[in-house]
Amino acid sequence: DRLERYPRLRVGAVDDLSEGDVDTFTYPLEGTSNFLTRIDGEAWGGVGPDASIVAYNSLCTHMGCGVEGQVKPDQEMAGPCPCHYTTFDLSKGGLVVSGAATTDLPQVRLEVEDGDIYATGIDGLVYGSRHNLR
Ligand code: FES
Repeated sequence: DRLERYPRLRVGAVDDLSEGDVDTFTYPLEGTSNFLTRIDGEAWGGVGPDASIVAYNSLCTHMGCGVEGQVKPDQEMAGPCPCHYTTFDLSKGGLVVSGAATTDLPQVRLEVEDGDIYATGIDGLVYGSRHNLR
C-alpha cells in the first residue's frame, strides 16, 4: 500500500494510559509497528496533561531489531536494544544515548482531542524504509 500523506489515526485515550503503560499500534502502513507510552516526566513532543505521553517507531535504527519489549517509561528510555544494546531517550525525541545506532528513534507526532490520542505523522525515517508512506 501507499499513502499520499500521513493519516490521522486514533491510537488511545489519555485516561486509559497510566504512567508506565506501553501499548503498541500500527501506523501509518499496516506493517509499521510503534509503541505508545507515558513516561515519568515531560517529553519533547509529549502530549497529555504532563506532556509525558509519547510514541515512537518500534524498530531500532541500527539494524531494525524491535525495541518495544525494552521500553522503560520510568527511566524515560527504550533499550538496551536486544541486538547491539542501543538505548534511546524517550524524553528527547528518541535521541541515541549509547550503543551502535547513530540515528535517533523516529518519533510519532501525537495530538490530543477530547481526551483521545491521535497519531498525525512520523519524524524520522523508519528502519528499512525509503519513505514512511510507501
Ligand atoms: Fe539495535 Fe543493533 S539493531 S543496536
